[in-house]
Amino acid sequence: MTFDRSLKIAPSILSADFANFGQEIRAVEAQGADWIHVDVMDGHFVPNLTFGPPMCAAIRPHVSTVMDVHLMIAPVDPYIDAFAQAGADVITAHLEAGPHIHRTLQAIRGAGCKAGLALNPGTGIDDIDYLLDMVDLVCVMTVNPGFGGQKFIHSQIDKVRRLRDKIGDRPVHIEIDGGITPETAPLMTQAGADVLVAGSAVFKGGSVDNPAPYGENLRAIRAACGA
Ligand code: DX5
Ligand code: ZN
Repeated sequence: MTFDRSLKIAPSILSADFANFGQEIRAVEAQGADWIHVDVMDGHFVPNLTFGPPMCAAIRPHVSTVMDVHLMIAPVDPYIDAFAQAGADVITAHLEAGPHIHRTLQAIRGAGCKAGLALNPGTGIDDIDYLLDMVDLVCVMTVNPGFGGQKFIHSQIDKVRRLRDKIGDRPVHIEIDGGITPETAPLMTQAGADVLVAGSAVFKGGSVDNPAPYGENLRAIRAACGA
């Protein structure tokens, strides 16, 4: 993964057909997805349950772009190696998931993956100064984690502006996760974000047998951002 700040759209498979992940991933990549966002939920850190390392390993052969694994789990550390061995390119952990995020990020990079730090909507950026040289990505949640199809939380726009300043010229992506649509996407790219996760806005109206809407939806988001 070489670093550049060009716009990337990362469809979240949480909004895909759970009975056909491999086909869905191939279809949405063929329609223009830049990354594939994989939402791992444990029913403890978030009030929902999705999948774990075996499912990530099963989809890995179908991902030809970047497997961006978002861990909405606590604790994180016992599972890092399993997700790395499953083929994750990026592993993102939540600042709120435990008391030793510094160690968690060290372990993610130690496992050979890019390290991401996720911040819930209620979490500020004042306490991440000593983490910015340990991450390749900061994920700003624009919904409370656990579900797709929720409404975008506009207060996060100001957080992204301040985060972009704080990051400076470090090779660190700002990823936005939740409620991204052609209406909300430009608000975040103008504020300094470069990776946009979109689940419902990308997968709506299409299917593995009819993937054209995926491309239309991706193009609508890109066009709205002037890309
Ligand atoms: C929520 C997940 C998001 C979600 C995005 O906990 O982290 O990635 O799937 O879905 P939309 O784009 O529909 O808000
Ligand atoms: Zn996510």
